[in-house]
Amino acid sequence: MPEIAPSILAADFANLQRDIEMLNKSEAAWIHVDIMDGMFVPNISFGLPVCSAANQHARKPLDVHLMIEQPDRYLAAFVKAGAALITVHYEACLHLHSTIQRIKELGVKAGVALNPHTPVELLKDILADLDLVLVMSVNPGFGGQKFIENTYKKVLRLDGMRKAQGLNFMIEVDGGVNLANTPKLVEAGVDLLVAGSSVFSSADPLATIRQLRQAAQV
Ligand code: DX5
Ligand code: ZN
Repeated sequence: MPEIAPSILAADFANLQRDIEMLNKSEAAWIHVDIMDGMFVPNISFGLPVCSAANQHARKPLDVHLMIEQPDRYLAAFVKAGAALITVHYEACLHLHSTIQRIKELGVKAGVALNPHTPVELLKDILADLDLVLVMSVNPGFGGQKFIENTYKKVLRLDGMRKAQGLNFMIEVDGGVNLANTPKLVEAGVDLLVAGSSVFSSADPLATIRQLRQAAQV
């Protein structure tokens, strides 16, 4: 069943505990945590202390999306800060296979994220090692951007590779996800939908998470 992972990038940082408690009560399966270093992406979000603080209150697993250069330097620290799943960017890893093994050795799930211009076919020889592939549906760095339509085709091709290789990694989509594009994404093969502004800018975030989950039952 496809699940929702609200991104706390769109939460009210001055009321982070309140917003996480709202997510605890919601139908969300994961809490998506966006880490940006101002180098891999042109924005700085927050780092380890905020991730740890979120983890103190979260009763859902943390899905940590590292938009940082040389992520190997921080893998152990993010596991300590509560990550249940760590996703690194294909474009940031020279030795991706080694990075993925390190994440797994730390006892958490491992994912790889692809920027909008990066073809899914580049993951062919590592798919069997992955728990998740994150297909970026906006250029990483900021919440609230417009969904890139080519994402559907990428997800379809990735789902085809998954079936052809008999694998069961999850497919996650991140950026511009809303009630309108959710059914088509699920039909293409998405298992996990990240939603930032569509959840936190809505008048009733709990209801929006419920509606997104309903829209994903196609
Ligand atoms: C973008 C982040 C996303 C972002 C999604 O770089 O990776 O997770 O929070 O936000 P929305 O849903 O507003 O596009
Ligand atoms: Zn993200």
